[in-house]
Amino acid sequence: MKKIGFIGVGNMAEAMIDGMLQSGEFSSEQILVTNKNNSERLKKIQTKFNVEYFSKKKLVEKSDVLIIAVKPQDLKDVLLNIKNFIKKDILIISVVAGVDIESIINYLGKKLPIIRAMPNTSARVNYSATAMAVSKNIKDEEVGMAHKILSCVGTVHLVEENNLDAVTGLSGSGPAYVYSFINAMIKGGEEQGLSHELSEKLAFQTLRGALEMITVTGSEIDELIVQICSPNGTTVAGLGVLKETFFEDNIKKAISTATNRSKQLCFENKVGIITPQKTCQ
Ligand SMILES: NC(=O)c1ccc[n+]([C@@H]2O[C@H](COP(=O)([O-])OP(=O)(O)OC[C@H]3O[C@@H](n4cnc5c(N)ncnc54)[C@H](OP(=O)(O)O)[C@@H]3O)[C@@H](O)[C@H]2O)c1
Repeated sequence: MKKIGFIGVGNMAEAMIDGMLQSGEFSSEQILVTNKNNSERLKKIQTKFNVEYFSKKKLVEKSDVLIIAVKPQDLKDVLLNIKNFIKKDILIISVVAGVDIESIINYLGKKLPIIRAMPNTSARVNYSATAMAVSKNIKDEEVGMAHKILSCVGTVHLVEENNLDAVTGLSGSGPAYVYSFINAMIKGGEEQGLSHELSEKLAFQTLRGALEMITVTGSEIDELIVQICSPNGTTVAGLGVLKETFFEDNIKKAISTATNRSKQLCFENKVGIITPQKTCQ
């Protein structure tokens, strides 16, 4: 029975542990946790999930898979701290945004099998759109284990590491774009005289329904748009404004800007190998 150790038990780790246990694929005896110094939080996680907590050293020694779920600025400390007692056959899964596999290997000083994953906040409700990239020396069974763990909180796609910045720009930050869109719809309804409550209900169901239509009918999105538009009707009038105000361009720009910010963060987090020419993809 493989032991899965979490370094960092914040929001992302809690969502993952919750999903892993709910899935029935993992049991609480398999899960070990540690954090920096918030003992209240550790006790809360222990009580909620019936998992054990350990010092970082003990946890690393006991774990077959190590999931690193700390903020980017804390990653260096964590890796330097554990590098001397880490086993050479341990599988490392990092969900830390903006730190590439090469940096993790450099901090650890050894070429361990590493998976870099980018989940999103919907992991909390098992609807994460996750992508993961793998280090060169990885075995199929290790990729399978990472897939099994990450799919407990949503869908998982294997990508080349140089695509992870775009993944961050699209699905990592994406929930916030969608929330902003929903907010705008609710406010739009209110401005036309609907109550907040009704506006909210209509907006939520419209979104759910649109997603179901795409999924269930399998129709092209453009075709679904055409189906709603009657000549000279209300939808055509509304869509005309979205076109005039560059709605699509703006969403694309948000994704490209977030992608570039991810590249920049990755560059800033690089260690020891930073040269002015070298950037993360
Ligand atoms: N939240 C999301 O939806 C999401 C989505 C995609 C990616 N991520 C990535 O997931 C990572 C974690 O995010 P989060 O939202 O879960 O963060 P969080 O809630 O702030 O939790 C961070 C955890 O890291 C621990 N930690 C910090 N320094 C440590 C150290 N030196 N040794 C051991 N533990 C340490 C903290 O312990 P203390 O409480 O004791 O300080 C805390 O348990 C981030 O890198 C983020 O980019 C998150």
